[in-house]
Amino acid sequence: MATVPYEDLEVLYTRQQIAARVAEMGAEITRDLKGEKLVMVGVLKGAAPFLADLARTVDVDATFDFVATSSYGKGLRSSGAVKLIKDLDEPIEGKNVLVVEDILDTGLTLAYLRKLLLQQRPKTLRIAALLDKPSRRIEKIEADYVGFSIPNLFVIGYGMDYAERYRNLPDICLMTPDHPE
Ligand code: IMP
Repeated sequence: MATVPYEDLEVLYTRQQIAARVAEMGAEITRDLKGEKLVMVGVLKGAAPFLADLARTVDVDATFDFVATSSYGKGLRSSGAVKLIKDLDEPIEGKNVLVVEDILDTGLTLAYLRKLLLQQRPKTLRIAALLDKPSRRIEKIEADYVGFSIPNLFVIGYGMDYAERYRNLPDICLMTPDHPE
C-alpha cells in the first residue's frame, strides 16, 4: 500500500474544527438567501472538498457548477497571470451565485473570476473562501464568507495542494520547507 508521510506534518485545523466552521458558514449562507435558489460555483480543483461539505450544510435548493483557472505556475507561488481553463456549464444570468474557493491569497484568481461572472449579470454574486490570507492581497477583494483568516503560511490538505499532492488530507496542515518531497 502506498502511504504519504503525513505524520510529520503540523496540523493547523483539524477535520473537526473545519466541519464546525463550515457548518457555521452554511447556516449564515442559508440565512442570507432567505429561501431563494443558489448556484454554487466551485473553483477546481482545490475547492472540491469544501464545496461538497459546504453544500450539505446549506439548507436551500442548490445546484453545482465548476470553473477552473490556471495561474501559470505549479510551486508555492503563482506568476500572477490568470486564465480560464474551464468555463461554467450553465448560464447564471438572474441567479444567486456563490463562488466557492479554497483560499483567498493574492486575490488575483477571484478578482478575475468575479469580473468574468459579473458580465453574465447574476442576481447576486457572493464569495465563500475557506481560508483567507489578507496579508498577501494584491487585488482589492474580500470574501463574503470566510472560514479562517490566517497569516502568510503555505497550507496543504482538505483540497489544497503542493504540486498536486496532499489534496486528500482530511486536516489542513502546514507545508514546511523541509518536508520530504
Ligand atoms: P490567489 O489568486 O493568489 O488568491 O490564489 C488563489 C489560489 O492559489 C488558491 O485557490 C490556491 O489554489 C492557491 N494557493 C494560495 N495559497 C495557497 C496555499 O497556502 N496552499 C495551497 N494553495 C494555495
